[in-house]
Amino acid sequence: MGKMTRRDFLRLAGGVGLSVPMAMRLPTPLMGAAGLSPLLTACGGEGDPLVSPHHNGNGTRFPLRLPEAVGVGDLRFTAAPTEWDLGGGLRAPVWALNDQVPSPLLRARRGDRFRAVMENGIPHDLILHWHGLAPPDDMDGHPRFAVAPGGSYRYDFTVDDRAGTYWYHSHTHEHTGEQTYRGIAGLLLVTDDEEEALGLPGGHREIPLILQDRRVDADGIPFFQPFGPAFMAGYMGTQALGNGVRDPYLEVDTGLYRFRILNGSNARIFRLGLSDDTPFLLIGNDGGLLPAPRTVSAVDIAPAERVDLLVDLRSHPVGRRVMLRSLPFTLSGGMGFMGGQNLQGEPLALLELRVAREVDDATPLPAALPPVELPDPERAVRERTFRFDSRMMNHFINGRHFEMERIDERVPFGETEIWSFVNESGLPHPVHLHATHFRVLSRSGGRGRVFPWEEGRKDTVLMQGFETIRVAVRFTAHRGLYLLHCHNLEHEDLGMMANILVE
Ligand code: C2O
Ligand code: CU
Ligand code: CU
Repeated sequence: MGKMTRRDFLRLAGGVGLSVPMAMRLPTPLMGAAGLSPLLTACGGEGDPLVSPHHNGNGTRFPLRLPEAVGVGDLRFTAAPTEWDLGGGLRAPVWALNDQVPSPLLRARRGDRFRAVMENGIPHDLILHWHGLAPPDDMDGHPRFAVAPGGSYRYDFTVDDRAGTYWYHSHTHEHTGEQTYRGIAGLLLVTDDEEEALGLPGGHREIPLILQDRRVDADGIPFFQPFGPAFMAGYMGTQALGNGVRDPYLEVDTGLYRFRILNGSNARIFRLGLSDDTPFLLIGNDGGLLPAPRTVSAVDIAPAERVDLLVDLRSHPVGRRVMLRSLPFTLSGGMGFMGGQNLQGEPLALLELRVAREVDDATPLPAALPPVELPDPERAVRERTFRFDSRMMNHFINGRHFEMERIDERVPFGETEIWSFVNESGLPHPVHLHATHFRVLSRSGGRGRVFPWEEGRKDTVLMQGFETIRVAVRFTAHRGLYLLHCHNLEHEDLGMMANILVE
């Protein structure tokens, strides 16, 4: 399975939609549903035998796994195909780092030295990216550093980032979607003095949680087999995974919990809410703690976005079950042409909380959060516009597909700029920038406002159909070649990505 360039991809696809799936169907073990023709399901909706719309919610649930965290001083990651128990002994083929799905939970303190060796034992090129951190560019996982099967890559840098819920995943061009889907993604939690001084819930009341959807065969085994419509909407499924466990539950006590949540899906947006309307106290997002806590009843997170939520279960009776769900929603841009293949906005049961023990927990709710340093739009010296467009299974930024060696924008180090992300299609695009965080200034068109979870610093912002989002940006960490891209992984793999040279 050689590396396919975009040109090969297009040649194989022959410019016709129906042959696209053949180009992406790799003969690898994750493809369950023996021999099912993608053409049978491409016509959508009801004819799709692989998807039971009522798959989640009622049946047996499995205990959420809470992995031990490891430090970042001396890491060794071995990427390899293996099997993973999705819950109840259902074993699925995956590609994993150190035989774990999700990838190992990493914890660092600001100022730590991060040292890791990644050994590539999967049958693809591979490189790892530390999403949300701002390391030097050769440590950032740009796809030009991807190593061939059998090769290895050494990382060595200082974690000089604010406390926050960060993550890491594969970043191999044209294979990020597949590799992340198969299991190469994990959380990276950073702490610092400021955060520690707040006394937020910790220990067994701090729950790192990666939420993902998976498309599964009749046996419940996830498979990655995108075809036609998946190249527009992105690859989605009806099986919820929490930390690699299907339909998970968590036994909780009557305490104050901190959930550090990543949407690790390829394409699916979640609107998080609790079934009994218990509110969330939203304290953080992609860029760490917010400027102030906010009480919300629901939070939208697109692929790659994170939220840090406090959930107060102190007045819940023992025996109560509360479901963390993705609530139904409609996209602002209109997506009707996807037919039955588009699951965006369909409800999904994500994690059941089972109140099992009564305890006294006097942990205070934070009344205030530390100030956040943000780029000041008044000091902006320049504006740039990035137009995101999707047509006929093609995804462009400013009319172009990603080219590994082409520099798309040259941005002076340390200067404040205003960037506009303009969505010229009805498809949602979670826009992600490497090497710094930005400040969301405004959203016009579509939903027309900035949401509470978009305050503070962000590295990914959801742009729904025909929206324009203005942000203030300033690169202050390192000079070098970084990326701006859509974090719908199918869009990213099809070239909705640009090289940004900070100089
Ligand atoms: Cu989470 Cu460039 O990626
Ligand atoms: Cu990133
Ligand atoms: Cu996109």
